[in-house]
Amino acid sequence: MNLGLTAAKTAKKDEFYTQYVDIQKEVEAYLEYDPDTFRNKTVYCNCDDPFESNFFKYFAANFNRLGLRKLISTSYDGSLIAGGQITFDEYTEGNGEREKPKAICVEIEEVTDLDGDGAVGIEDVKLFLERNPHSHRPLEGGGDFQSEECIELLKQADIVVTNPPFSLFKEFLALLTKHKKKFLVIGNTNAITYLEVFPLIKANSLWLGCTNFNVGMFFEVPDEWKKYHHINEETGKKMARVSTSCWYTNLDHGRRHEPLSLMTQADNLKFSKSLAKKDSYSRYMNFDALEVGTYKEIPSDYDGIMGVPVTFLNKYNPDQFEIVGNSDDGKMMRELGVSQLGRDFIDAYRANGGTGHYSPGMRMLGLFDPSPRVIYKRILIRHRK
Ligand SMILES: C[S@@+](CC[C@H](N)C(=O)[O-])C[C@H]1O[C@@H](n2cnc3c(N)ncnc32)[C@H](O)[C@@H]1O
Repeated sequence: MNLGLTAAKTAKKDEFYTQYVDIQKEVEAYLEYDPDTFRNKTVYCNCDDPFESNFFKYFAANFNRLGLRKLISTSYDGSLIAGGQITFDEYTEGNGEREKPKAICVEIEEVTDLDGDGAVGIEDVKLFLERNPHSHRPLEGGGDFQSEECIELLKQADIVVTNPPFSLFKEFLALLTKHKKKFLVIGNTNAITYLEVFPLIKANSLWLGCTNFNVGMFFEVPDEWKKYHHINEETGKKMARVSTSCWYTNLDHGRRHEPLSLMTQADNLKFSKSLAKKDSYSRYMNFDALEVGTYKEIPSDYDGIMGVPVTFLNKYNPDQFEIVGNSDDGKMMRELGVSQLGRDFIDAYRANGGTGHYSPGMRMLGLFDPSPRVIYKRILIRHRK
């Protein structure tokens, strides 16, 4: 099953559990750029039952290698599968059964070779939790990331790393921004153009992570889900694909410093010929900018504004380009000088041979060349001088 944003939202479950390998792949990419990204840092996983979350498992298992100062993980009372899952399934407490839900907090300040196997890893964390019942405690406020006690923990943290509930993404990001935290979190690609998110991207206070955002991600989902993509042979867990998932961060990484290769005049000539067109780039009818249908065709020698698909952000290098707006934001577009939006646009477009009807809230850029068409969702960029 492929779940787009709407399906994921209407399911209202927010229960998509991140795979260890996806966390590992993303985090390790930051280490390639700066091996000290996490050194002496307190990492807080604030939507993560330590007994089931692979975020907790990854950071606990790699505590010493990453050089963490502290790892904090808090779970949420409302979690559908809290206490039932994954990571520490062999872990037992007291009578041999871990009781179901009750939000808890685990704080770890060191991981030593407790099992004496000569290496420090997840088995040692398990032993540590067994031998030190006080390392985990119940949370009075139910583990809501916005609760007072979780905010107190947030204040201690340097970096928040998690996959928060999709339905609370705006609130989640607002909290991290308010407390000026570093973060590496999973969200939905549709959030890129949210009014609350895009200004942060434009201001280079937030960018996409390393994993290519166009591929979607597989998540573990609760056993009782009827619809899923496949069953993971190793874990026996049901897996669903969310085609619109990506990482959001304000931690620096190498990919955002790689220059994107651009289309030179010579390339452009070939390109125009191959398209049998006089001019390979079209201009919007209602906005003074060039339409560039893919990041692969960004011209090297155009000084003005260019409209590119959202996938450009995957290649965005802030030293090379400036982001000036996004076509979904009507206010921003008016400030940038768009001449018609919404109903005005549709009227002008139809008068020039286009077809289509106005719907409330529509934001579009229009092209007449080679034939009338409308363009949805463009990020507007310009070369840095
Ligand atoms: C998308 S799941 C991801 C879980 C885990 N972070 C992972 O990646 O495997 C989001 C989790 O946040 C929990 N959650 C929902 N509302 C929450 C809230 N207000 N505060 C904290 N956690 C919440 C859900 O129960 C769910 O377990």
